[in-house]
Amino acid sequence: FNSHLIPLTTSSGGPSNYAPLLSTSGGGVGSSGGGHGGQGGSMLERRKTLTFTNSLSLLLSLQIGSGIFSSPSQVNNNAGSPGMSLVIWALAGLLAWTGAASYAELGGAIPLNGGAQAYLRYTFGEGIAFVFAWTAVAVLKPGSAAIIAIIFGEYLNRVVWGGEDVVGSWGNKITAIIALLVVTVLNAVSTRLTARLSDVFMVLKIGSLVAVTVIGIVVAATGWSEDRQGPSTEWKEKNWFAPVVVGNGTDVSEGTGHMPESSRQITQLGNIALALYAGLWAFDGWDNVNYVTGEMRHPSRDLPLVIHTAMPIVIICYLLANIAYYLVLPASVVGSSNTVAVEFGHKVFGAPGAILFALTVSMSCFGALNATTFTSSRLVYVAGKEGYLPQVFGRLGWFPSRKSPDQNYHNQPPRSRATSGAITKLRARLADGPWHATPIPAILLNTVITALYILVGSFSTLITFYGVAGYTFYFLTVLGLIVLRARQPELERPYKTWITTPICFCCVSLFLVTRGVFAAPVESVAVAAFVGVGWPLYYWRVGGGLKGFREDVGSIGSTVKGWVGCGKGKGRAR
Ligand code: ARG
Repeated sequence: FNSHLIPLTTSSGGPSNYAPLLSTSGGGVGSSGGGHGGQGGSMLERRKTLTFTNSLSLLLSLQIGSGIFSSPSQVNNNAGSPGMSLVIWALAGLLAWTGAASYAELGGAIPLNGGAQAYLRYTFGEGIAFVFAWTAVAVLKPGSAAIIAIIFGEYLNRVVWGGEDVVGSWGNKITAIIALLVVTVLNAVSTRLTARLSDVFMVLKIGSLVAVTVIGIVVAATGWSEDRQGPSTEWKEKNWFAPVVVGNGTDVSEGTGHMPESSRQITQLGNIALALYAGLWAFDGWDNVNYVTGEMRHPSRDLPLVIHTAMPIVIICYLLANIAYYLVLPASVVGSSNTVAVEFGHKVFGAPGAILFALTVSMSCFGALNATTFTSSRLVYVAGKEGYLPQVFGRLGWFPSRKSPDQNYHNQPPRSRATSGAITKLRARLADGPWHATPIPAILLNTVITALYILVGSFSTLITFYGVAGYTFYFLTVLGLIVLRARQPELERPYKTWITTPICFCCVSLFLVTRGVFAAPVESVAVAAFVGVGWPLYYWRVGGGLKGFREDVGSIGSTVKGWVGCGKGKGRAR
C-alpha cells in the first residue's frame, strides 16, 4: 500500500528526467508503461505529438464550448443584476484558474497521461483512482460530451431550418449522434489531425468572442442596429447592480424579500452557488490538458505555460462577451433567453445575424466535442492499461498484431510469412499508418457511452451529476496536492503554485458540493450510490481477480481473458 511513498524521480535534474520516467516500466509512476513485455511507455506517450500550440488550442477549444453562448441567463438570474453576474463570471474563472494551477503542479510532479486518475492513485492509492476512473469513464466524460453534442444539434438545426424547430428533440439527438460519429472517426484517424483541428477551432472561437465584443462596443457607441430600434440603452441609464426583473416579474431579491432574515441569506448563498455552477460549466474543461501530458513534447515546461496562458484568455474573453451582451440587450432579455448569442445576433443583424450566431455556437460545440473526445479517450486508454478496464481499451490501433503485443505497441508492421498478399499489405500499412497511433478501442467505448446518454439522458440529471460528482473529484485531487506537499516535500515539482491556490480551490469546491447536495438531495444520493458501485467493481477488477494476465496481452485469446478478469499487472508502483 506504500505505492505513494515511492519517489517519482530517481535522479536529480531538470525536465529531461521525464522521458526516461515515462518509459520506465518497473516502478515509480511509470505505470502506464507496465505490463507490455517490459518495453516501457506506450507508443502514445513516446510519440509526443503535442506542441505548445496544440495543447493550448486543445484546452481553449474544449473550454470554450456552449457555456459562454448559453449560460449567461442562468448566471444573470441567480446573480440578480448585470454587475453581480460579471462578478460571478470573474469568480468562476478565478476558481477554475486556481484548480487548473493546482493541476499544473500535479501534472509536473506526476507527468503521466490520465490526469486525475494518475494523481489520485499516487496520493490516495488505487481504490480512489479506480472509483474516479469508473465515474469519469461511465458518466462524467461521456455525460459532458453528450451535453455538448445535444447543444450542437440544437443550434445546427436552427441554422439548417432557418430558426424554426422543425426536427424536434429526436432530430436534434440524431444530429448530435452524427456529429459524434464524425468526431470519432477524426480522432481514430490521427492524433495530429485532431490536434490541427483544435488549432483551427481555437482561432474560430477566440475570433468569434472578439467579434462579439467589438460588435457590442460599436453598436453601443453608435446606437445602430438592424431593427432600427437601436440597442438597449439600459447600460447607460441603470445602475449595473440594480436588481433585474426577469420573466414572471419576480427578481431574486424581491422573491426572497418576504422571508425571515436567516433563510433569505441561505437562499442568496444558494443563488450564488447556482450562478457559480452555471459559470463554472462555461469554464469547465480546465483539467483536460492534464489527460494528455504524456503526449506533450515538453510537459514540464508547457503544462503550466498552457494553463496560465489559456485561463486569462478565457476569463477576459468571457467577461468581454458578457459586457457586450449587456451593452446590446436589456438585462431582462439576457436573463430570459437560453440562447443569448442568437438573441444578440438577431438584435444587431436581424434574421441573418441570428443564423450566423447559431452557426458560430454550433461550430464552437463541435470543436469542444472534438477536443473532449480526444482527452476522454486518453483517460479510458490509461484506465485500460492500468487494468481498471478490460485490457483491450488500453490498446492502440485497429488490428491487434497476432504475433505479440509489443509489435503492436511499437509500430512495427506485423511479420508474416506471406509478404505479398493484399491483406497483409493492408495490415502492414494500417499498422504503420496514423490509425495505428490512436487508442481506437478507447475512443469507441467513449463514443458508445456518449451516444447512449444522447439518446436517453436528461439534461438536468446530467448537469446535477456533473456538478456534484465532478467537483467531489476535483476537490479530492487538489486536496491530494496539499497532502503531497506535506508528505513528500522533497518530490520534484518543476512547477509549484502558491499553497493558497489549492486551499482556495478546496474551500470553494467543498462549498459547491455541499450546496449541491442540499439543493438536490435525491439526485445526490443517486450520485453517491453510482460512485459507490465503483468499490465492489474495484475489488472485482483490481483487488481480487486473476493475476498475471498482463504479461501475455495481445492475442485475441488473452483479450478475452482480460475481459474475464485481470490481476495486478507488473509495472505498477507498489
Ligand atoms: N466549458 C464547456 C462548455 O462551455 C464544457 C466543457 C465540458 N467539460 C468537459 N470536460 N468536456 O461547453
